Amino acid sequence: MLYRYGTFLSLTLCFLLSCGSERPTAGSTPAQAGDTTATGYAEAHRPQFHFSPPAHWMNDPNGMVYHDGEYHLFYQYYPDSTVWGPMHWGHAVSEDLMHWENLPIALYPDSLGYIFSGSAVVDRTNSSGLGTDGRPPLVAIFTYHDPEGERAGRNDYQSQAIAYSNDNGRSWTKYAGNPVIPNTESIRDFRDPKVMWDGEREQWLMVFAAQDRIMFWRSDNLIDWRYLSDFGRDLGGHGGVWECPDLFPLTVAGEAEEKWVLLVSINPGGPNGGSATQYFVGDFDGTTFTPDPTFLPDVRDGEGVWIDYGRDNYAGVTFSDIPQADGRRIFIGWMSNWLYAQEVPTEAWRSAMTVPRTLELHHPPAGYRLFSTPVRELETLRGPAVEISSAPSPVTAGADGTYEIDISFLTSPDSSEPFGLLLENEAGESYRIGFDPATKAFVSDRRQAGDHAFSETFTDRVARAPRLATSDTVGMHLLLDVASAELFADGGATVMTEIFFPSTPFDRISVYHGTSTRVLGGTGYPLQRIWPAMR
Ligand code: FRU
Repeated sequence: MLYRYGTFLSLTLCFLLSCGSERPTAGSTPAQAGDTTATGYAEAHRPQFHFSPPAHWMNDPNGMVYHDGEYHLFYQYYPDSTVWGPMHWGHAVSEDLMHWENLPIALYPDSLGYIFSGSAVVDRTNSSGLGTDGRPPLVAIFTYHDPEGERAGRNDYQSQAIAYSNDNGRSWTKYAGNPVIPNTESIRDFRDPKVMWDGEREQWLMVFAAQDRIMFWRSDNLIDWRYLSDFGRDLGGHGGVWECPDLFPLTVAGEAEEKWVLLVSINPGGPNGGSATQYFVGDFDGTTFTPDPTFLPDVRDGEGVWIDYGRDNYAGVTFSDIPQADGRRIFIGWMSNWLYAQEVPTEAWRSAMTVPRTLELHHPPAGYRLFSTPVRELETLRGPAVEISSAPSPVTAGADGTYEIDISFLTSPDSSEPFGLLLENEAGESYRIGFDPATKAFVSDRRQAGDHAFSETFTDRVARAPRLATSDTVGMHLLLDVASAELFADGGATVMTEIFFPSTPFDRISVYHGTSTRVLGGTGYPLQRIWPAMR
């Protein structure tokens, strides 16, 4: 991983001078804002094993694709400030989903607009003709957002466009015939294309959000697209605009059955306020997505089924082109919420991504459900294991506030005593995450977890997630990383991701429970940081 003082200097200068963001070609600026690890990733609240940009504003993950031994992560990026602005695609690569190398900005705004969210694929057969020397190109599909059109009060200011790379994503050329899907019907919110290869029908499929529904389009070459269908106007949560869909098939765990999953982010309207991601499970026949009849009751009357009930997992999508031999469906979300994302108390940068997660489809009695668990690569960050056999036995976390705990509790069906994990620091701040048997919900309470003065919505409630599992053994797998907690309960059946800003890292974790519950067992691990040491 590169480390350069020069980059830091030019970045600082660029920030002070407010360098323009409308730049002609990728990678040609002196600032290389996406190319610095010079901050050392050691500022207050800086995540240590999650991806965050070296400096400035980040939102959605974009263009996640695996190619030639590298996972590419692009992201919505504004290199001139720590609040949202003219969008670029920032870029980082990883060989192991854990350690990231920051690369120069991949896509800059141009005369057609800002570069909003989208996806990337490997065009294996060079169906687009955009490859050179017989090698498959990487093709990125994104939304152009034309700020002038928006200002002029038009409705057609978003359209879908493509760019391609013939050097492993290091440089990008925008397609000369953009946009490939103009907004001919003037739909106000018309964005966030996610493309996949539909092997069964031998076609490219694109899903994107059109205000209150998802549109499906097809193509043979990634350039000429034809409308197929739309879905969702009268199903699922509609408390806000639909954004950032993803569509993929998944085999039901332990069975031969395959179903199709459609992820849809929505803002606002999440289960605990603000932004969140819902999903639908059903079938796709090459043209139309049909929710499974057993799933329908869960998504009627404005109800949603959520991939994560915490307040800080938004706009998440999955990697394209994971090799078949691996076979995983790997998801990353943006670990923030539009309610307060632009106000959170970090100075050099804003926002981090969730830890990469493996998605599985299960079929418990409640119906088809997505389970999420951290990717197995996370285990490579583990330090020496600490066995947790009984409680109360405080487990002390690393001084840098990173820790993993996998613990199970045995409770009795008639118990009403809450139990879970309490995180504390020397400043007397605390974060509590656990289970409330009275309401059969996991609860995340960050009201005492440090700075919350920046936004009333940050601590306006205790977040709740209904428990899906029914067994008397309750599993809590928790990842703590300075400013975030990710709970994967009951093997990933219920997930909560929440951020917080303690004045010093939480370095003491203890278990709480009443007499009707006991700790069955557990393991704790300090987790190593993923960024190189500051020189
Ligand atoms: C989701 C989103 C997308 C859009 C992008 C703009 O957070 O609003 O719909 O493409 O962010 O940055």
